[in-house]
Amino acid sequence: MMIASGKGGVGKTTLAAALGICFAKRGLRALVLDADVGLRNMDLMLGMQDKVLYELTDCVNRRCTLDDALIPHPKYPLLHLLSAGQDARPKDFVRKDLSRTLKTLRPRYDMLIIDAPAGVGRGIKNFIGLADRFLLVATPDDICLRDTEKTARILSEEGREHPGLVLNRYDWRLARSGVIPMPEPLALAMDMPLLGVVPQDDSVYRAMLAGSALLDSAAPQVKEEIEGLADRLQGLPTRIEAPQEKLADKLRRLFAKEAVRP
Ligand SMILES: Nc1ncnc2c1ncn2[C@@H]1O[C@H](COP(=O)(O)OP(=O)(O)OP(=O)(O)O)[C@@H](O)[C@H]1O
Ligand SMILES: [Mg+2]
Repeated sequence: MMIASGKGGVGKTTLAAALGICFAKRGLRALVLDADVGLRNMDLMLGMQDKVLYELTDCVNRRCTLDDALIPHPKYPLLHLLSAGQDARPKDFVRKDLSRTLKTLRPRYDMLIIDAPAGVGRGIKNFIGLADRFLLVATPDDICLRDTEKTARILSEEGREHPGLVLNRYDWRLARSGVIPMPEPLALAMDMPLLGVVPQDDSVYRAMLAGSALLDSAAPQVKEEIEGLADRLQGLPTRIEAPQEKLADKLRRLFAKEAVRP
């Protein structure tokens, strides 16, 4: 599966890393391919910055074997990382080489997650052909949603599978106050199946700063949503439910409504 987006910085790498760990914790053999050619950062997100000695570009250029570039996670050994190439350029990866690599990888993993750069520009075109499933990560604002719709359109023009939508950095308080749309109507309007709604939470950024895995240190509601997203990707029927509203928040919202009433 490919985790992509229309706009940058919406949480693709964060979610790809969290899903990789989640699947590995469930006993599945998972590979995360950092396809952000020339801008590697998945190794940092997974706390593996000192471990990457070889990358996919080295394999393609026969400087190492594919096994040399498949790096097991120190804490979750079923999770492997493959980085495309920190000093590579998009043209270094031709479709033929990538298809051959994927053919070798497919039987060795249960889950293959490709972390894409933003958009579907030249940097990612050849990697798109490797995926048979697409997740578009979006934040619930008009700017991002417009880019998301455009990306979904491009994928469909390329003849790719219809993507699923994951809303990230979702603020349920803003949704309840009517500032941002509720997840289901939003996904319906965008004509994309809703696969997950991950809340905006400081613990996500803090986990990244600390170099710790999201599933180890993020707030319970974030972990729950990542698990739910992983369930849905595995075909398990888990419902997306709005978190219980705190009484203080509810009162504040109702009083605010009352105050603006003429
Ligand atoms: N649910 C969340 N709540 C709070 N912060 C988040 C959440 N998801 C991601 N972030 C933060 O947003 C920032 C960008 O995340 P990330 O690098 O995963 O985005 P990206 O889509 O991969 O970016 P790029 O397009 O540059 O590859 C990071 O600082 C991350 O910690
Ligand atoms: Mg990224």
